Amino acid sequence: MQLAKNKEKIYIKCIQSVKNTLDNNKLQYISNILFEAFDDWIFCGFYFQEQDELIISEYKANKLPCSPIGLDGVCGTSIVKNQILNIKDVYQFEGHIVCDENSKSELCIPFEINSTKYVLDIDSKKMNAFCEIDEKYLLKIVKEI
Ligand code: SME
Repeated sequence: MQLAKNKEKIYIKCIQSVKNTLDNNKLQYISNILFEAFDDWIFCGFYFQEQDELIISEYKANKLPCSPIGLDGVCGTSIVKNQILNIKDVYQFEGHIVCDENSKSELCIPFEINSTKYVLDIDSKKMNAFCEIDEKYLLKIVKEI
């Protein structure tokens, strides 16, 4: 419960700074501040769809992300189904694309900018790292873009 409260506080601060930033590159700004805010995250960034592929956009990560990737991974499935995907254990997801072998759980939030489909993708080195609080606040953050 305490942990959940801390998470909420972090997200509320992040949303405030996204609202107030003068940085024109909101995708990069969001990737940076979220990545810095959570110790267990190893990737935070955006992919967009181009035909049958997803291309990396802005991101912050420990390793170079793979790009382009197919639509059958976690990110692609989230975009195709237009559904938030909260994967507690990435190795239980058939089709999961490994960009960093340290990734244990993953959260994808799909959204659109001017008819282009995007996904905010986050990887954690912890199993079962994400909950409804992450889903709720990350959805609010993508609405600020
Ligand atoms: N795991 C993702 C690929 C993107 S990386 O995690 C940065 C997927 O299965 O689509």
